[in-house]
Amino acid sequence: MLSRKQLGISIIQRCLRDDGYLTQRCVDCSDRKDGKDGKFVKFVAKYTPSVEILLQLIEQNSGKGLILPEKVVSSSGSVLVMVFDNFVIKLFQNRKTFNKVGNVLNCAYESGCDFIVKMKDWVSIQNEKIRIHAIVTEKLTPIVTYTGDRKLNLKNNEIFKLFHDIGIALDTIHKLGYTQGDCTLDNIGRIGKKFVLFDFNCAGRIEVRNDDIAFLVKSAKFNLKKMDEKEKDFLEYVSSFKNSITFLSNIKEYCKEYDIEF
Ligand SMILES: Nc1ncnc2c1ncn2[C@@H]1O[C@H](COP(=O)(O)OP(=O)(O)O)[C@@H](O)[C@H]1O
Ligand SMILES: [Mg+2]
Repeated sequence: MLSRKQLGISIIQRCLRDDGYLTQRCVDCSDRKDGKDGKFVKFVAKYTPSVEILLQLIEQNSGKGLILPEKVVSSSGSVLVMVFDNFVIKLFQNRKTFNKVGNVLNCAYESGCDFIVKMKDWVSIQNEKIRIHAIVTEKLTPIVTYTGDRKLNLKNNEIFKLFHDIGIALDTIHKLGYTQGDCTLDNIGRIGKKFVLFDFNCAGRIEVRNDDIAFLVKSAKFNLKKMDEKEKDFLEYVSSFKNSITFLSNIKEYCKEYDIEF
């Protein structure tokens, strides 16, 4: 059994090699080049108050005490995603991005929309000793997987179900005055039979930019291998809609007309 401190250090060593996700100095644990003479120096992991807060967050949300993440993803550089067995912690470097994402997820939660990832918990502290901005959400299964190359295994009728579910998610977000800002299949996952929208890092005000539907359709079209002319034409037509309600009603009508069931 690892002690609390050993577990904290292990998390730092495994996940937080990049400075700044918690505090500037809590992550000095990896071999890296020293600025002055370019030699590799062994740094020692530090157990800081920010690490302690991260451990508390894990403890509160796991229901099983302290556990290590299954995997850690750091794709965009400004966030670090720690995927646990049934929840996910997203650590933000930037407080402004954290505030925006937290606000969108909080409003979405209150609206009761089932097609937007649900926020379970959050923490945001920044003072001389502590710097941590983190959001805990439910876990989903991303629909796009990367095993060597980018893979997507969705049948055409499932794509229509996706348009339906994500159309409802976008309608909720748009009514709140936001756009998702990066509405591609990379930011859509599954929970049971539902398709769920996540990743609001690029969210913006709807009056400034509104191209979620165009993005969504383009991303799906790009990923659809087999599609006939009729479907292509229809998707071309709906991709021009700005209004998510109009998009949604067109999807429903098309599915009814051509007996697409999901
Ligand atoms: N709730 C979640 N459940 C499971 N995996 C997730 C979840 N959130 C993020 N991920 C994984 O982490 C990756 C990056 O997270 P994301 O929120 O899309 O940030 P960004 O694309 O800005 O780096 C996703 O592509 C996905 O593989
Ligand atoms: Mg993403």
